[in-house]
Amino acid sequence: MNSALQKFTTPVGTALDRFIATKQSEFPFATGELSQLLRDIVLASKILNREINRAGLVGIETSMDQENVQGEHQQMLDVVADIRFTRALTRGQQTCCILSEENDLIVETGNRNAKYVVTLDPLDGSSNINVNVSIGTIFSIYRRKTEIGTPPTEEDVLQKGRDQVAAGYILYGSSTMLVYTTGYGVNGFTYEPSLGEYFLSHPNMKIPATGQIYSVNEGSYEDFSPGIQQYIQYCKKERYAARYIGSLVADFHRNLLKGGIYLYPSTQQYPSGKLRLLYECNALSFIVEQAGGLGSSGEGNILDIIPQDKHQRVPLIIGSKQMVKQVLEFLK
Ligand code: AHG
Ligand code: MN
Ligand code: MN
Repeated sequence: MNSALQKFTTPVGTALDRFIATKQSEFPFATGELSQLLRDIVLASKILNREINRAGLVGIETSMDQENVQGEHQQMLDVVADIRFTRALTRGQQTCCILSEENDLIVETGNRNAKYVVTLDPLDGSSNINVNVSIGTIFSIYRRKTEIGTPPTEEDVLQKGRDQVAAGYILYGSSTMLVYTTGYGVNGFTYEPSLGEYFLSHPNMKIPATGQIYSVNEGSYEDFSPGIQQYIQYCKKERYAARYIGSLVADFHRNLLKGGIYLYPSTQQYPSGKLRLLYECNALSFIVEQAGGLGSSGEGNILDIIPQDKHQRVPLIIGSKQMVKQVLEFLK
């Protein structure tokens, strides 16, 4: 082929939609409901991506002057993100209820015949919104516990991470990416804004077994347990790189690609750590495990924790397997 022609006809790669459809056809009894649910999340993420990209221009990067159920300051984009995802999941009809960081109670979508439940951090890293730094969305998908056709209850969302059917995140960064797993490896897709599509860019992602990056808010060092403090001293002695964006999704994503560890241990302000089990820790622990890494609370695998409360927090130590195991040694 003529080289000019070649240049203008290079393949764009596998579109996410085709990828989802291909995966579905590999399962003989798949009905397409999970595929539709994933598409609903994808649609909401594209809309939100648009809002985020022009946030500064239209004034939605501002604060709401109100607090969410966590007693944390809410930004307008937190609320916008929550509405976008709730609406897409409601209209898509595959989700019977949603647990969101932004709502105290579970949100019934009215789709009582739907068999899935979604837990969601609609916008992660909200303190980074108005400073133009990467933010994200985190989601987990579960099969409901209550009978199809009946009203969903809290029991449907209080499931352990091991029972996730799928989990993923969207990173609104220098490019927008979707990374997700359905329990058969992890795949990453990059958004092509001019086409309005995600394309497979990171097939079968694996986290390096060890790395040289540690990510922790060291400003809280004095609050950390002696074991965590000793591990941080060890990282310094080894001349590891300290990298902390303050958006969990972004910190996690970098460490997934490069190898590293993220820690949010217990502090004075947050005795159980700051991060939420049901819509932050479980999803990322499922992804990291599928990529060959590990997520721990310091006392056990995150995915084995039986949740007691919808918005419960848990200390998180997550990333390259050898590094997480080493922290556990320091904690002994
Ligand atoms: P959210 O914006 O959803 O409330 O999450 C913020 C979280 C997480 O993204 C980040 O890693 C962590 O808070 C940062 O906390 P510190 O500012 O205490 O380090
Ligand atoms: Mn968050
Ligand atoms: Mn959030």
